[in-house]
Amino acid sequence: ASGIYEVPQEYQSRTPPYSKLISKLDAVRKILGNDQPLTLAEKILYSHLVDPEESLASSNGKVSNIRGLQYLKLNPDRVAMQDASAQMALLQFMTCGMSSTAVPASIHCDHLIVGKDGAEQDLVKSVATNKEVFDFLQSCGEKYGIQFWGPGSGIIHQIVLENFSVPGLMMLGTDSHTPNAGGLGAIAIGVGGADAVDALTGTPWELKAPKILGVKLTGQLSGWSSPKDVITKLAGLLTVRGGTGYIVEYFGEGVKTLSCTGMATICNMGAEIGATTSTFPYQEAHKRYLIETKRGPIAQAADSVNNSYGFLQADKGAEYDKVVEINLSELEPHVNGPFTPDLSTPISKFGETAKKEGWPEQVSAGLIGSCTNSSYQDMSRAVSIIKQAEAAGLKPKIPFFVTPGSEQIRATIERDGLIDTFEKNGAIVLANACGPCIGQWDRTDVPKTSTETNAIFTSFNRNFRARNDGNRNTMNFLTSPDMVTAMIYSGDMNYNPITDSIKLENGESFKFQPPQGEDLPSHGFIRGREEFYPEANPQPKPEVQVNVSPESDRLQLLDPFKPWSGEELSTNVLLKVEGKCTTDHISAAGAWLKYKGHLENISYNTLIGAVNKETGEVNKAYDLNGDAYGIPELMIKWKEEGRPWIVVAEHNYGEGSAREHAALSPRFLGGSIILVKSFARIHETNLKKQGMLPLTFADEADYDRISSGDLITTIDLADMIAKEGNNGGNLRVKVTKKDGTSFEILTKHTMSKDQVEFFKAGSAINYIGNLKKQ
Ligand code: F3S
Repeated sequence: ASGIYEVPQEYQSRTPPYSKLISKLDAVRKILGNDQPLTLAEKILYSHLVDPEESLASSNGKVSNIRGLQYLKLNPDRVAMQDASAQMALLQFMTCGMSSTAVPASIHCDHLIVGKDGAEQDLVKSVATNKEVFDFLQSCGEKYGIQFWGPGSGIIHQIVLENFSVPGLMMLGTDSHTPNAGGLGAIAIGVGGADAVDALTGTPWELKAPKILGVKLTGQLSGWSSPKDVITKLAGLLTVRGGTGYIVEYFGEGVKTLSCTGMATICNMGAEIGATTSTFPYQEAHKRYLIETKRGPIAQAADSVNNSYGFLQADKGAEYDKVVEINLSELEPHVNGPFTPDLSTPISKFGETAKKEGWPEQVSAGLIGSCTNSSYQDMSRAVSIIKQAEAAGLKPKIPFFVTPGSEQIRATIERDGLIDTFEKNGAIVLANACGPCIGQWDRTDVPKTSTETNAIFTSFNRNFRARNDGNRNTMNFLTSPDMVTAMIYSGDMNYNPITDSIKLENGESFKFQPPQGEDLPSHGFIRGREEFYPEANPQPKPEVQVNVSPESDRLQLLDPFKPWSGEELSTNVLLKVEGKCTTDHISAAGAWLKYKGHLENISYNTLIGAVNKETGEVNKAYDLNGDAYGIPELMIKWKEEGRPWIVVAEHNYGEGSAREHAALSPRFLGGSIILVKSFARIHETNLKKQGMLPLTFADEADYDRISSGDLITTIDLADMIAKEGNNGGNLRVKVTKKDGTSFEILTKHTMSKDQVEFFKAGSAINYIGNLKKQ
């Protein structure tokens, strides 16, 4: 493709391969007959197809036959991994035997850092507690040429925005808020470790083509309204399931009025409506942000590909599967929660709703920052509120915490006096890390075990129970940093800073003026402490040893799962699960987070939340002789006896998240089939990736005919395998009851050609490893 500015060498690993993408898009347009307008999301996604012909062949040249129907095989440009999920991603990558990654990648140490007393003290403690894990990640980084952003350098999504996100980029990240990078016009998708390994090894990554949800923004934000309110409002409109299977694409005149970091906030929380990802068309604000983050040549390249080919905008007349409109001029600040991000209340109704619902009358703490809201704009607006309070002699009524998103943000706001204002006014500035956003808040004012309900106001993105301080009774209300900051001076749930006044000590009343802030620092960003920055373009060093101690309780090297023997599978029913069974039931989180890199240790949590259909008990399964065990304990016993097992369950098995341990652990403990009424799609894919056989009942009523202990044997599995490439099919199985009687039932599978290969090889990783060795 001509007319595209070629960036100097040092920027190349951070610039999407625009010329290649334009050529791919041309090929896609030929298949589609050139006359069908595409949305921006489709352009970015389809230009990353490995082979447009193969992926789009059965669409008959119609866009409407692609969305929601075709499986796309994609080549992402980059991978980012956070410390908790990177462990399993890298342990799996290591088994493939490659000496470097196929695409640029980065590791970010942010989730394992506890927030308590302030950055300095907290960081030292967290580095000491997690040293083994950080050392492992660092040595992997060195060995394979992956950028290692150490503890304290910042939160994955903020660092990605400042360094790697670029309009038109397609990236994967092992964290559900990876879509934050869509604020800078990328398609960035949150995945599990095994998916990341696809990209790291250059293996095509498969995604069912999403539908496109258009959000039209009109008008302009003003006063107290902020970008956060766009997404908190949208979450209220669409609910936590409203974005499932969609990419959210923003368009309309209102987009031009937003800052780049504001767009990132909006995309970040698209995860809360279940969207695959969210993105924005290329804007002046993007260009300014790229220049300010020292990526001028990349801005020039983006300009050129947009001007010559319109690549970074939707085509005129592009159609969305659904459209929602939000008028920014009429948008009011919203407060979402408790316990679900889609329970959205405008601030004008919040006090009365709180009273009606019996929520606490007082707010117990305020927290701003995190990957969602720690931009210069967010921080400067918060400080403009604090300064007004300071001038009026107002003191904060509740504890206030600030988490900067990166060392660059922290250093810049320190230089500009913002940190000083925060600290002088009682705020505790925490490390540049996730801290309270992921339950790593060592809270001292309210004990974890407190049975009394308390309310916190945060500018974060998630508010499930126990998410922040480990206390199930803490209600987290999600809102803008502006609202949180104003609230610390009142503490009253009934307070609305837009309309209400606060009594000063001298008896006068004080009312805040709307916050003022700067999109970008007028004196530019500074980098801050150099020790937090990794080498720009690290080269792999094969001589580096990655040490995993056999004694470690946190890390364990992976042994490849056994390939399929070619024989029928003969398995006993270990458990018949009743009702809802989410990834939390299958692989509990919380304290288990510690063992993410140790498959054996984390597997002791397998299905401990599941309800036994036959007895109504939680975490109880029965051996063939009737002896009772905890579920993982029986799995271990059967594994040791060489008895493969099957779990039978009901609808939407594995809903909730992409947590790959929910597939890894059952496989590790000797499971071979999961037979259910229906699967959550991502979990079904994860099972296939780990070499399990996920089956659904052709006739749901057969669920009632199966009991624990029954022997289930496949019939003509080899035949089914031989019909690979059919994208699913039937499999008969024989059910033999304990009394020796038997019958046959029909089940279904949805394995694609590649997924059949995963099954044969024992797992997707084995399959990839075999390919690489060939
Ligand atoms: Fe996740 Fe850390 Fe953000 S926990 S939500 S990436 S601050």
